[in-house]
Amino acid sequence: MPTKLMLQAWAILGTLLVMFVGESTAADPRNGERIAERWCSGCHIVTSGQQQGSDQIPTFAQIGRSGRFDEQSLGVFLRAPHHSRMPNLSLTRSEVADLVAWIESHSR
Ligand code: HEC
Repeated sequence: MPTKLMLQAWAILGTLLVMFVGESTAADPRNGERIAERWCSGCHIVTSGQQQGSDQIPTFAQIGRSGRFDEQSLGVFLRAPHHSRMPNLSLTRSEVADLVAWIESHSR
């Protein structure tokens, strides 16, 4: 029966679409935490439990509270390292989104 087959095809397509859309819109703060600990905690105080870091460098809590960084501006900031003492970290758009989600969830 071709109609049943078509229904199945649509169902699969629909599932893929939902997965794809879910993937691209929902930032994952837990992945943001992993990125932060791996790439940022050498200099920034990333978590409140962290022992090492520099008092010359804003903590992630301060960065979050400042409200100056959303997905867009953090992405721009991280891609423009020439005016900063930060290393050139090439993170993808979705990694930046995850970072921002995590920073924001820790600043409230
Ligand atoms: C090698 C040390 C180092 C690493 C690693 C590092 N940073 Fe920084 N960061 C700094 C310094 C130093 C500053 C102070 C501002 C400046 O000189 O640009 C800074 C400033 C910032 C600021 C700006 C704060 C403000 O209010 O202007 C943001 C946002 C930031 N860092 C995010 C990150 C993120 C996200 C990561 C990890 C992906 C990271 N940094 C990794 C050293 C570092």
